[in-house]
Amino acid sequence: MASINTTDKIPNNVNLANDRTLQRALEHWQPHFIDWWQHLGPSDFQTADVYLRTATSVDADGWASYGAVQMPNYRWGIFLADPVADRKIGFGDNMGQPAWQQVPGEFRSTLRRLIVTQGDTEPASVEQQRLLGHTCPSLYDLRNLFQVNVEEGRHLWAMVYLLHAYFGRDGREEAEELLARHSGDADKPRILTTFNEPISDWLSFYCFTYFTDRDGKYQLKSLAESAFDPLSRTCRFMLTEEAHHMFVGETGIGRVVKRTLEVMKELGTDDPAKIRAAGAVDLPLLQKYLNFWCSSSLDLFGSEISSNSAANFAHGLKGRPDESQYEDHVLRSSTLKLLTPEGEQEVPMLNALNEVMRESYLKDCEIGLKRWNRQIERAGFALRLTLPSARFRRTIGAWAGQPVDPKGNLISREEYEKNLYSWIPSESDRAFVHSLMRQVIEHGKMAAWIAPPERGILLDVVA
Ligand SMILES: [Fe+2]
Ligand SMILES: [Fe+2]
Repeated sequence: MASINTTDKIPNNVNLANDRTLQRALEHWQPHFIDWWQHLGPSDFQTADVYLRTATSVDADGWASYGAVQMPNYRWGIFLADPVADRKIGFGDNMGQPAWQQVPGEFRSTLRRLIVTQGDTEPASVEQQRLLGHTCPSLYDLRNLFQVNVEEGRHLWAMVYLLHAYFGRDGREEAEELLARHSGDADKPRILTTFNEPISDWLSFYCFTYFTDRDGKYQLKSLAESAFDPLSRTCRFMLTEEAHHMFVGETGIGRVVKRTLEVMKELGTDDPAKIRAAGAVDLPLLQKYLNFWCSSSLDLFGSEISSNSAANFAHGLKGRPDESQYEDHVLRSSTLKLLTPEGEQEVPMLNALNEVMRESYLKDCEIGLKRWNRQIERAGFALRLTLPSARFRRTIGAWAGQPVDPKGNLISREEYEKNLYSWIPSESDRAFVHSLMRQVIEHGKMAAWIAPPERGILLDVVA
């Protein structure tokens, strides 16, 4: 299964050549995708040779091959992780039965919706990031940006393959719609709010890849548990690519912290105004960006109490990330205590799975915070970066629209409105960050607001 014919028009490990109808349908979609990439992908550098990783196989040692390529000629392919022999459903009411190789009729529209929602985020992020090349802090960062972009493009291919292969005409129509909705478009926006937020500066890009790509990791992990085996295998392979996106976010923020600490030491102050005057990002400003992107990404997990999440789990469509680490995989007799604005509520565990996922996501988010705080501590400064409470600035679920501060306290609306822009970036904060954004593309050079990476600076091949 792992062997791949890379001379195919569409590289794949799904035996596309043996299904002429499917192959023709995807070859028909391919020019629409390229057209979308040319118009809404990276706004520049389309004719530059970029040193990129391309998936050419799903083997542990061969799935990433590197070489210089012009982005529109990137070989976006369809790759599923190898099948697990006799795979059984691992959770829900049908646990222990064979995984599905086809879509059961009764779950067709729900599965299609899950795939479309995931698929929609992939091109959305490319659109959100399309202007960042104009202000990249270095060639190293530019290459990382394009690597993320082409792989999000491949993730779109992954979802479009499932739609074409398993959902007939409806699926083909959905595949077209994935190219018709656009991030931030007034008439046809992307499905989820976070994917309509502009990413017009690199601080936002690092926060997005840290927080929002990590949401992607958790969604993919839960879909990798699905009883629908082609979806499971698709997501398992996508996860291998996702790791690099979060690496870009974590190291990007870490490099901003490092540079800021250098400036603080040079000036012998933690006064934000002085740090800004020296052309660096003060840590309270970084904290505001963390608050903004973390809270926005927390909404992506959905309502605390959800009958959809209960049905998706019970039916075997979507599990919990790393389902095997839990003992109870049916969840018909357990409950979870949730804090809502009305007080504590005990709800059936099945209905609380969005919250279970959100909590494990937040734990994962803490890892970077610990690392950045160690840098700050070692430099001898008292400030610590924190994650906002999961109740802060929510627009979905029990806490939607509630005046809650970043520590999670319910406060008066007046106090909330008065303080909001001391917690998330204000217009003038954003204007300052934008003023730092100047394109640096000379070899070996780095913008002054961010430290060079620990390694990799010499690998910055963009000609
Ligand atoms: Fe993705
Ligand atoms: Fe990603």
